[in-house]
This record gives sequence, C-alpha cells and structure tokens, in this order.
Amino acid sequence: MEKYKIVAVVGSLRKESYNLQLAEAVRTKVGSLADFEILDYSDVPLFNEDIEFPAPESVQRVREKIKQADGVWFFSPEYNHFFTGVLKNLIDWLSRPIRENEAQVLAGKPAAVSGASLGMSGTAIAQDHLVTLISFLNMNVMNAPRLTVPSIKQQLNAEGKLALTASEPFLEQQISSFLSFIKKTK
Ligand code: FNR
Repeated sequence: MEKYKIVAVVGSLRKESYNLQLAEAVRTKVGSLADFEILDYSDVPLFNEDIEFPAPESVQRVREKIKQADGVWFFSPEYNHFFTGVLKNLIDWLSRPIRENEAQVLAGKPAAVSGASLGMSGTAIAQDHLVTLISFLNMNVMNAPRLTVPSIKQQLNAEGKLALTASEPFLEQQISSFLSFIKKTK
C-alpha cells in the first residue's frame, strides 16, 4: 500500500503548544500508516511583496514540503475567534507561486482541520475562518469530521501535558477518515 505523506501545519509557535501536542499525538497514532511530518516554519518572515522574488530560502523550503505532500493537516489555536496570525502569514506565502506561470502549491491538496483551545468552542469559530480561506485557495477540504478539542485544561495529565481523554476517539476517527479521504483523491 502506498505510504502517504502528510504535512502537519501547527498554528502556534509556542514550545509547549497544546496544538503542537495534538499534532504529536496524531503522529504517534498514525505510526507507520503514513509519513507524518510537523512543518517547521518558524523562520518564515512576515510576508512583504518587496521580498517576494526571489523567495527567501525558508519559504522555498516550506513550499517544497507542501508541494510533495499528499495531504495537509492544520492544527490551529483560536486567537480572538480567529486562527492565528502566523498561520495566515504562512498561508499568504504559500498562496503565491515562486515563479511566473507556476501554480500555487495549495490548490487541490487534501486538507484536514483540527484545533485545541482553552475555551468551550474548541477552535470551531477559528476553523470556520480557516476553511473559508483554504477553500478560496481551492484546497480539497475534508469538512467532516473536523476535530475540536475544547476546555483543554480538563484533558491534561499530572505533568500538564495534553492527555486527550474525552477527545481520543474523535481523533482516531479523524485519522482514519483523512487517510481514506486522501486515498479517494489518488
Ligand atoms: C487566546 N485564547 C483563546 N481561546 C479560545 O478558546 N478562544 C479564543 O478566542 C481565544 N483567544 C485568544 C487570543 C490570544 C491572543 C491568545 C494568546 C489566546 C487562549 C488559547 O486557547 C490558549 O492560549 C491556547 O493554549 C493557545 O494554543 P497553543 O499555543 O497552546 O497551541
């Protein structure tokens, strides 16, 4: 069976980010079923058309990772009912081609959306905004299931790490759904 490449894009640069921990939990559960890589884009600069061409090396690197991926999985916090600024900045870069006459790399890519937050919405409102954006960029969005992990503080272990008690079955469901979704696009 073909081993799919999934690139995880975490919308938080925080070292102890719960959304990063959620992505890491997916990587553990996916195991050998897919090649699951968490994208490091911490060195991507703020988008500015003055520095767009030639694209900075960091931008070329992340763009190539997305280009090679069979699927992209977003894990974003909710900041003021929106997804984060760093994620919007990354997507703005990815929405632009490196050269003229080259397609942007997000179009047609299968996309899954998840998020964890301290609040009760579990990033649902931020996810709606993110889906609006990535649909505009013509990503192939898996609208169901999406994963919302609300009230994170209730799902931590004694060390303060994400334990995913109540959300675990939903996470497993999303993994198997996304693998099938990618397969259908092949
Ligand atoms: C938040 N947080 C938050 N939580 C939420 O459920 N809804 C919201 O609208 C917001 N808004 C918000 C704005 C800003 C600027 C910050 C810094 C935080 C809290 C948020 O859920 C919490 O900080 C998470 O831990 C952030 O995710 P990571 O970094 O742990 O992945």
